Amino acid sequence: MAIQISPSILSADFAHLAQEAAAVADSADWLHVDVMDNHFVPNLTLGLPIVESLHKAAALPLDCHLMIEDPDRWAPAYAEAGAGSVTIHAEAAKSPVRTLREIRRLGARAGLALNPATPVEPYADLFGELDMLLVMSVDPGFGGQKFLDVVLPKIRRARQLIRSTDAAVWLQVDGGVSAETIERCAEAGADVFVAGSAVYGQEDPAAAVDALRAQAER
Ligand code: DX5
Ligand code: ZN
Repeated sequence: MAIQISPSILSADFAHLAQEAAAVADSADWLHVDVMDNHFVPNLTLGLPIVESLHKAAALPLDCHLMIEDPDRWAPAYAEAGAGSVTIHAEAAKSPVRTLREIRRLGARAGLALNPATPVEPYADLFGELDMLLVMSVDPGFGGQKFLDVVLPKIRRARQLIRSTDAAVWLQVDGGVSAETIERCAEAGADVFVAGSAVYGQEDPAAAVDALRAQAER
């Protein structure tokens, strides 16, 4: 299973997003874009106009993580804005199947995210509708939080459930992923790793991506 790294621009300098994206263009696989609305999570970041501009300015495909209320209404617009992947939260979506299908119809990969307190089992029947399952390893809203070890058994169960279906679902982990925690996540079965402070909080973001990948592949 190929390891993919998706640096989160939440920890980058928002005044220089194009340069920050370029800094990891040769080492990362995706650029993780955290969209927060100050309702689903207690923080506010960016929305469609910035995603549209970033899509034109960045070489990497955008991995948009929507931490917003009413993702059913907004998610398709992110696919239309050029996102390569659009992830909605299970806790927020009222019609997740319709929305996931719409994301795919518009040409993006469809992702479903689960907060640390949300169990994976009720969603196993939907795996055929997904390209990626995101298991949050912090309560969403902020970068730089401590990795929650309690989610490791859920990552393991999610990997087992993915294996037991025929669906080709990537398993992403987001929150507190670092040189200290990435190996445990990979061992539990994750294959796509979001890292904000562990990439953009470092002197050399590209080297940090390479180091994280090497550790996950061990
Ligand atoms: C948290 C966001 C994450 C965040 C991760 O709510 O979804 O993507 O940027 O930041 P780190 O890697 O610093 O925990
Ligand atoms: Zn995120």
